[in-house]
Amino acid sequence: MKNKTILLTGITDGLGRHIIELLAENNNTYILIGRNKEKLKKIETLIQQKNKNSKVDIYVSDLSLLNEVKISANQIKEKHPVIDYLIHNAGAVPKDKGQKTKEGLNFALALNYLSPLLITETVRSSLSASNSPIIYYTTTQMMPKKFNSKEIDEIANLTAMKSYSVSKLMFCLYLENLANHFNFDIKIFDPTTMYTSTLTKVFPDKLQWLSPIAKLFSKSPEKVAQSVVKILNKNDNTGTIHYYILDKLSEPKADLKNQKLQNNVISFGENLLNATLKK
Ligand SMILES: NC(=O)c1ccc[n+]([C@@H]2O[C@H](COP(=O)([O-])OP(=O)(O)OC[C@H]3O[C@@H](n4cnc5c(N)ncnc54)[C@H](OP(=O)(O)O)[C@@H]3O)[C@@H](O)[C@H]2O)c1
Repeated sequence: MKNKTILLTGITDGLGRHIIELLAENNNTYILIGRNKEKLKKIETLIQQKNKNSKVDIYVSDLSLLNEVKISANQIKEKHPVIDYLIHNAGAVPKDKGQKTKEGLNFALALNYLSPLLITETVRSSLSASNSPIIYYTTTQMMPKKFNSKEIDEIANLTAMKSYSVSKLMFCLYLENLANHFNFDIKIFDPTTMYTSTLTKVFPDKLQWLSPIAKLFSKSPEKVAQSVVKILNKNDNTGTIHYYILDKLSEPKADLKNQKLQNNVISFGENLLNATLKK
C-alpha cells in the first residue's frame, strides 16, 4: 500500500488507532474524519513521524450527525478526485435503548449505517476513479442470524446492543448491493472481542467493575490491527465482497444476498437521509 489515497474514520482510538500506526509506514495520502480535532492532530503527527512524505488531510465531524458528515464528505469529494481505500472503522454501541442524536435519529442507525452510507455515496465517483478501489467496514459477530425488514422500522424499540448489531448488518446489506453494481473490492471485517472503550462502555454503570475482567476474554486491538492490514493487502478481486473473522474468510450468518432486503434497507436509508439533510 504505497502512494495511495486512503480515507479513514474511527482512527483516533482503539482498533483504528493501531490500524493507522501500521499503515503510516508508507508514502500515502491519509484523509481522516473524526469528531475530536486534538486527537486527529495527534494522529497527523504520528503519521508524519513515521513517514515525512505522507500527506494528511483532516476533517472534523461528529459521524453521528449527518449534516456534519455531508459537509466533510462533499469537501473530500471536491479535493480528492481519486480515492483508493475507504476504511469505515468508526462505530459504537448506544448508551441506552432508543438513544437519539441531536438530529432526532436513532443513534446506532445514524453512526453505524447512515453515516458510512452517506460517505460512500458521496465519494463513490472518487473510488470509481481508482485502479483498484477497496472498501473496508468493521462489523461485529453480534450481527443477527435472522433479520427481516420489520426490524428496520422497529430499530428504536430494540435494546442498545440489538440496535447496534442491526445497524451494522444494514450497512453490510448496502455493501452487498454495491458489490453487484460496482467494481469495488469490499472487505467486511469482524474483530471478535477487543478490549477497547466500545467494550467497556457496554457495561452499565453498576457493572463497570466487571469491565477489567472482560480484558481476560478479549483480544488486544494492537494485535487485531495486524489482521486488518493483512486483509487490506490481500488481493481479492474487484467486484467481490468478502467477510473475514480476523484474517480468516467466513460467511455471514444472515442471508445478506436477499435482494428485497437490500432494496428495503437502501430505500429506508435514502429516505432518512433526504429527510435529515439540509438542502
Ligand atoms: N471492541 C470490540 O469488541 C468490537 C467488537 C466488534 C466490532 N467492533 C467495532 O470496531 C470498530 C472500532 O471500535 P473500537 O472497539 O476500537 O472502539 P473505540 O476504541 O471506541 O474507537 C472507536 C473509534 O470510532 C470513533 N467514533 C465513535 N463515535 C464517533 C462519532 N460519533 N463521530 C466520530 N467518530 C466516532 C472514535 O472516536 P473518538 O476517539 O473521538 O472517541 C474512535 O476513533 C467499531 O466500528 C466497533 O463497532 C468493536
